[in-house]
Amino acid sequence: MLVSLQEMLADARKHNYCIASINTPNQISLRAILAAAEKTNMPITINHAQTEENVVPIEIAVPLMLEYGKASKAAVSVHVDHGFEFNHCMKAVRLGCTSIMYDCSRFPMEKNIEEVKRFIDIVHPLGIGVEAELGDMPNNMPSEIHGQETSDLSDLSVYFTKPDEAEEFCERTGVDVLTISFGSVHGMYKDEPNLNVDLVKEIDGRAHGVALGMHGGSGTPFGQVRKAITAGIRKINYFTAIDTAPTPALAKTIMESKNPVNFSILANQAMEIIYEKTVEVLNVFKNGANR
Ligand code: 13P
Repeated sequence: MLVSLQEMLADARKHNYCIASINTPNQISLRAILAAAEKTNMPITINHAQTEENVVPIEIAVPLMLEYGKASKAAVSVHVDHGFEFNHCMKAVRLGCTSIMYDCSRFPMEKNIEEVKRFIDIVHPLGIGVEAELGDMPNNMPSEIHGQETSDLSDLSVYFTKPDEAEEFCERTGVDVLTISFGSVHGMYKDEPNLNVDLVKEIDGRAHGVALGMHGGSGTPFGQVRKAITAGIRKINYFTAIDTAPTPALAKTIMESKNPVNFSILANQAMEIIYEKTVEVLNVFKNGANR
């Protein structure tokens, strides 16, 4: 069923757990991830990122996501991940997305606030939840596309969100989720991650009730994920580890087969592996909540 992000976040705060936010750029991922959300009884946002336009255009992806989301027994928000352009986000509104990340973190803070506030004023009356980002999320991705460039990962603290700025951002925008930078990386980590959980606690205490988001969940040791949730993280984006999980097994199937392997066989194998991996992650995101 479709449930608003705001409603999901309120329950996650009350019971100290975290909403998973996972990209579903194909029907196999969509089915596997929703099945995992049903199995674990965890609310979820299923995402289409603007950077995935070259994989599947939003006009194709979102109607399918809505169809599956409505039919699911899990609480689902159909979400835009990293919408960089206002017009793209407005297209998502027209297509029926129930929550949208309008990512203006590349701009100076004042422009980020103005843009996000302008968007919120339009979409909050429609019940659409809004996520924004403050501070930079570093990337470790082999791509030149904006939002996926490889960053200098030698000192992640240079990207951290500043508590004073976060407080002002939350107060002036009334955003539903503020994604902060505190040591995670989009894609896989280069070195052993070391999240700054004290920074999460500090920002959470000054966020005027705004839920905090973490991106780049993949590869973070589960112990650190749980600590970040307990410190106030209410939405975690998690993709690379789920999307790459089936690849070794599929390669093995192909290599070991004497005959050409049907794609539909591989797709079903991938679906099962994505499902198992997502169940594992969602159980961590429960953080001990009785669900
Ligand atoms: P990972 O792929 O590193 O898990 O990050 C996903 C993400 O943050 C998407 O916005």
